[in-house]
Amino acid sequence: MPRILSLPFEVLLTSMCGIIGYIGKKNAVPIIIAGLKSLEYRGYDSAGLYTAPGGAVKAKGRVRSLEEKIPPGLSAHAGIGHTRWATHGPPTEENAHPHADATGTIWVVHNGIIENFRELRTELEAEGVAFRSETDTEALAQLIGKYYAESRVLETAVASALSKVRGAYGIAVMSTEEPDKIVAARLGSPLLIGITEEGYALASDPAPLLPQTRDVVYLDDGEMAVLTRDRFEITGVNGLPVQKTPETIDWDVEAAQKKGFEHFMLKEMLEIPDVLENALRGRIDDSSQVHLGGLIDVTDRLASVKRVIMTGCGSAYYAGLVGELLIEELAGIPVEVEVASEFRYRRFVADPETTVLIAVSQSGETADTLEAVRLARNHGMLTLGIVNAVGSSIARETDGGVYNHAGPEIGVASTKAFLSQLAVCALVALFLKQVRGGGVSPDVVRDLRSLPRLAQEVLDARTHIEAIAKKYAGAKDALFIGRKFQFPIAYEGALKLKEVSYIHAEAYGAGEMKHGPLALIEEGFPTIALVPRDSVYEKTLSNIEEIRARGGKIIAVSTERELAAADDLITVPLVHEALLPLLTAIPLQLLAYYAARERGLPIDMPRNLAKSVTVE
Ligand code: M6R
Repeated sequence: MPRILSLPFEVLLTSMCGIIGYIGKKNAVPIIIAGLKSLEYRGYDSAGLYTAPGGAVKAKGRVRSLEEKIPPGLSAHAGIGHTRWATHGPPTEENAHPHADATGTIWVVHNGIIENFRELRTELEAEGVAFRSETDTEALAQLIGKYYAESRVLETAVASALSKVRGAYGIAVMSTEEPDKIVAARLGSPLLIGITEEGYALASDPAPLLPQTRDVVYLDDGEMAVLTRDRFEITGVNGLPVQKTPETIDWDVEAAQKKGFEHFMLKEMLEIPDVLENALRGRIDDSSQVHLGGLIDVTDRLASVKRVIMTGCGSAYYAGLVGELLIEELAGIPVEVEVASEFRYRRFVADPETTVLIAVSQSGETADTLEAVRLARNHGMLTLGIVNAVGSSIARETDGGVYNHAGPEIGVASTKAFLSQLAVCALVALFLKQVRGGGVSPDVVRDLRSLPRLAQEVLDARTHIEAIAKKYAGAKDALFIGRKFQFPIAYEGALKLKEVSYIHAEAYGAGEMKHGPLALIEEGFPTIALVPRDSVYEKTLSNIEEIRARGGKIIAVSTERELAAADDLITVPLVHEALLPLLTAIPLQLLAYYAARERGLPIDMPRNLAKSVTVE
């Protein structure tokens, strides 16, 4: 994870949404539609495309609505498409991308936020330009149109317009007058070019490119690309050519497809054993030594750090909470974990010389987490990433790090990626222990190696978990409780249930119940209790009894085969307590999934959410 230049903080307000483009010998239309479908997890409020020949088609809602509106038999050699997660303006057809200039010559798809769009719009309106939508993107399209009228060269017009823009963007632009060209540019919102034998594709993340190619070139901030049927050229903001070396994405095509499963979430949970295997592969030798190639260059600094700050959002933050316990327990270094959206606004009081920031992120693009990394780097702190998406912004902007190797995760709910984050946190904790002279931990390593097999055992019990989920799927509320290593898993379980089943859920440290939440318990109220036989087993059992005494129902996740305190019991194998989260998290994901399925909900794309949260 090499360093690249930091961006100013204000350009981080990038929007979610997905961009796809293609130019070449194949028909661009099916490529764009398939690409938009695989990008839908980035936003599903509206979708649209512009093709040459063909023109623009837009639809409110999902990509399938767009598909229905495309003239049958449409064939095009070039085109750009967009799936939207609404930021400026409601999710209407008018606000759907692509946006055009007033003459209908310029067509733009855009991820990001043009911060000075009101200013630009006022200026353009004063010049007589009529706007059609409420979006910030239209101001950019109109501005490009204005410069295009002068130069008649698309890249020149785009560069002139971008020089007037404040904000963040990943854009793809076409002109009706230059149908053999797509111009793309990036500042703060990811874009990559896929290289194929028949032409070039363009996308905001690697997944939609996989059916076409694995050879890609990532645009960096401040770069612009001009794609034609047989070549592409990248320049910097100064117009000078930039030489880039193509990279190979090692994800396989099938990994990003549903392969007959009803939902990506189920498919991805069932991949957990393989994902754990991949996270560990080649990283532990026969003498229980951990080898993390991405940390070699920073080993000396890690040997002397006095404090670790972990940061992330949502599930990645909860993985960080497990990481905190692992690092403290195994390496003995004080750790604190900060929600990235809070960390970035707090007074910075860490000693940069002796503190390391570890950012956890599946996508590597979460705006708040990326911003936390930049903040720490600007203060001279060592920054590391635990990241799944290879080549993502966080991966590239940190000083070092460890890839999860979980493959693409498409379901909005983090499942296999969360498990891989936990596995990597364990490896990092063991590595920190080693580099600080603490030696190896054969007992932990032995159990770590057994996790893929044991995770499979948990997954094999899914019919039983499904039955429990169905029993409680009608609940309005639920509580999740756990202590020590199970405390963060309680939070993760509650998040998963809320996110996919829309059941209101809250998590508490089991010992906290009597300080308030116990008042919620009444006859039949469901509590999911994480109670494996760990060092706080007896304590948690007592907390469970307090709930039962008030009529609450207990769904226990335990290492016990029988548990008198449980109304329903899910048994997981027993391993070192520091690794138990990797087994207890799985039934909670399955419970959430089956409850959501019972409620007939759009599991892979829950309302109001998107996979990659690149807005602040
Ligand atoms: O891509 P990231 O890991 O940075 O994403 C962080 C969160 O947005 C993510 O974990 C979110 O909470 C999930 N939807 C939870 O299932």
